Amino acid sequence: MSRAIATPDSLISLETPVPVVDLDRLAHNLDRMAAYSAMHGVSLRPHVKTHKSQRMAAEQMRLGAIGLTCATPRELEVMSGVSNDLLLAYPPVGAMRVRRVVETLPDGTLTVMLDSAAAADELAAAARAVGRTVRVLVEVDLGMHRVGVVRAADAVALAAHVARTPGLVYQGIGFYPGHIRESVDRQGAALAQVASDLSSLTALLDRAGLTPIVVSGSSTPIAWHAHELPRVTELRPGTYIFNDRTTALIGACAWEDCALTVLATVVSTSVAGQAVIDAGSKALGREPLRGTGGMADRDGWGALLDHPDVVVTRMSEEHGVLDLSSTAWRPAVGDRVRIVPNHVCYVVALFDEVFGVRGTHVETLWPVDARGRMQQVSHDAPAPRFTPRLA
Ligand SMILES: Cc1ncc(COP(=O)(O)O)c(C=O)c1O
Repeated sequence: MSRAIATPDSLISLETPVPVVDLDRLAHNLDRMAAYSAMHGVSLRPHVKTHKSQRMAAEQMRLGAIGLTCATPRELEVMSGVSNDLLLAYPPVGAMRVRRVVETLPDGTLTVMLDSAAAADELAAAARAVGRTVRVLVEVDLGMHRVGVVRAADAVALAAHVARTPGLVYQGIGFYPGHIRESVDRQGAALAQVASDLSSLTALLDRAGLTPIVVSGSSTPIAWHAHELPRVTELRPGTYIFNDRTTALIGACAWEDCALTVLATVVSTSVAGQAVIDAGSKALGREPLRGTGGMADRDGWGALLDHPDVVVTRMSEEHGVLDLSSTAWRPAVGDRVRIVPNHVCYVVALFDEVFGVRGTHVETLWPVDARGRMQQVSHDAPAPRFTPRLA
């Protein structure tokens, strides 16, 4: 999994742009979430979309996670090497996807979250075709309005449908409170609404004889309040492992908890008032800040770890422009900087490997194993044929 570096070296020896993870901050983030879930007696099933790495997942399991959450078939396949208790928190729709999903894990160990009878039926048929059963959580919409059954009565009906469908085993419900992105100190009303909706829904399920064994939810922005939600049995945070600029700005972590930065090199200072780095949108992603409110055009696409007031305000694919108007700091061509990205999950998915550092010492690296889709097709296809242009 992890490869030893031939000559352990310093940050200066890495080719940029490159994601680097501060191993002490990483350990702190992992320990803190493990301790939180243990303290509140709630299971932890981290979402692997943030790191897509077997090595990170193994560490989460070692610290007490009961299993892992995945979004893609590729993540399921890779993570089946780490845990056989996986949740696919994504509607399994489409013949190729469903077949791939049900074949990943041994009989009865996969859980899938879905929000329609069509998805349930397609999954059940695929499971029966390979002689397996799949556990199911009915996904409910508690305010994000993305996926999830909206009306409580419809959620109960879908739960009943799942419970009587051969090939499926009804386990309970799941939700993703991704609409709660405001500052931690302003989340109270939205959290209260989720709590109240959850209470009514679980009461309805109880009355219908469909008491949920599992109630799966949470996210990094609400991470430290998740225990206040009634009947939640498992937490699915993802971003917390590395954290990012958005998480810090809403107060769900401290700036010092941002473990992953993109190491970049200043490649030009020719235009006054700015410095250009070799990290553009193909290294930092192009995710706006969400939930931080009121920073307008200074939001940018990331900020320097050591100068949080210096922001990447413009990007091309391979160029990032640092706005120096609010600082006396002046970098020189060739200087290295570390950028805290707005949304860390995008950044990881843009790279093949991540380097682990302590201070400026590069200690290790690991591959982003579950990156990409890895379509189940042969790569021996003939080379594309182009029609010759007429003279
Ligand atoms: C279904 C689901 N569960 C859990 C998470 C984890 O959220 P976060 O990265 O904010 O912790 C996500 C994030 O996109 C998600 O889509």
